[in-house]
Amino acid sequence: MRTSERYVVAIDQGTTSTRCIVFDRRGRLHAVAQQEHHQHYPRPGWVEHDAMEIWQHVRRTAASALASAGITLDQVAALGITNQRETTVLWDRHTGRPVARAIVWQDTRTDELVNALAATPGAESVPKRSGLPLATYFSAPRIRWLLDHTPGLRERAVNGDVLFGTMETWLIWNLTGGAVFCTDVTNASRTLLMDLRSLSWDDELLSFFGIPRRMLPEIRPSAGVLGTATEVFAGVPIAAALGDQQAALFGQTCFTPGEAKCTYGTGSFLLLHTGLEPVASTHGLLSTVAYQIDGAPPAYALEGSIAVTGSLVQWFRDQLGLITTAPEIETLARTVRDNGGCYIVPAFSGLYAPHWRSSARGVIVGLTSYITKGHLARAVLEATGWQTREVVDAMNADSGLALSTLKVDGGMTADNLLMQFVADVLDVPVVRPMVAETVSLGAAYAAGLAVGYWPDLAALRDLWHRAGQWLPDMDPALRTTEYANWQRAVAHTFDWIQ
Ligand code: G3P
Repeated sequence: MRTSERYVVAIDQGTTSTRCIVFDRRGRLHAVAQQEHHQHYPRPGWVEHDAMEIWQHVRRTAASALASAGITLDQVAALGITNQRETTVLWDRHTGRPVARAIVWQDTRTDELVNALAATPGAESVPKRSGLPLATYFSAPRIRWLLDHTPGLRERAVNGDVLFGTMETWLIWNLTGGAVFCTDVTNASRTLLMDLRSLSWDDELLSFFGIPRRMLPEIRPSAGVLGTATEVFAGVPIAAALGDQQAALFGQTCFTPGEAKCTYGTGSFLLLHTGLEPVASTHGLLSTVAYQIDGAPPAYALEGSIAVTGSLVQWFRDQLGLITTAPEIETLARTVRDNGGCYIVPAFSGLYAPHWRSSARGVIVGLTSYITKGHLARAVLEATGWQTREVVDAMNADSGLALSTLKVDGGMTADNLLMQFVADVLDVPVVRPMVAETVSLGAAYAAGLAVGYWPDLAALRDLWHRAGQWLPDMDPALRTTEYANWQRAVAHTFDWIQ
């Protein structure tokens, strides 16, 4: 039976799929629709998405989520958008057509460009201003690459005919029929073009990367009404936009300095709330905006970004064919007692935090004829655990604090063997909330907060409930030896590309 109950809807435009989720006032998932989009790999190291396909998927998943929720648009109090970050799309302002496929955050084609930029005067001030290392991961080198490799594009961009956005900008522009061209502080903080303190585009960074200001969207707070949809969600306020990892921090209700979460998806991203001032990392972490609620100062975070975790399981399934579904990795790993001396370091897109080596490539070490696919499965899962350990070590060193517990979320948290291993190698409890869809939930919370659907942060915090916990249970001597082995394996990946 149809009720007049109101809901908040989140669109989560992720690396592998687009989801539309309807949440109720208690933060419970009421309906969900999901669609995967194509991954294009035109050359080694290149990863592309079709932004038009993604926009069509937003249309379809929205229609299907609203239908399965049995609700109409007048029951949607607000729409929140969250997205894969750094992925770069340029489109024609007049036709609305992308000028090329979107270049995805994992893409390493800008490797040489980044090396050349690193040797250019002004490179040393990039991390100070943006909070980020100069690396292929972020948007600015991709914009520059497209401007350099598409005939006539720079001129069109200078004239204001070509627009840049990450996925939230592209979707908001389409949802408002081209009326609203904006990004939010969290997404802008991943471009290498925003001054992390003033939260505005930085002229020196723009000139360093050779990017015309006219192609850039307006930077807005993460929670606050950005406009009203005229397409798909006609009449609904678009009340939040956040990068997906920041949305997960918000969905985990990490509103206080010192609170941290790790989201295990395609990659894994550990964010620590550091308060109202950005903290500069000296151990290979990113300084980034956590969120900004309209009318309030921004909150900042330190982030440890790991490029390949869930996508290693996908690779194991799709490219090696050793399992047929992702969850089978746990069953296969449980056929053996340990890794048999085998380690896999998945430096498929170079290595991100804390190493930042774009010339690294993956290795499997310790192979003997004793190794079975069970050992390989274990090494796949352990790679995620050890990569988490590396960023937690960096975080503890940067913050001067020792992480006491880790909140986790994302698809891989369904893997009990992995979660136990994470607790074991970190030597801290790992906890998972009732709603594991924290990315979408965070976008919904931010949007609901902006329109008064939820009154304040305390009300959101009350909605967080623990569903699972893993306590450390590993012999300390074994932990030390295994970590040393992992680190030796990592050293083998360095500078493979010369
Ligand atoms: O920085 C990249 C990150 O935002 C991607 O997240 O979950 O779409 O793989 P995900």
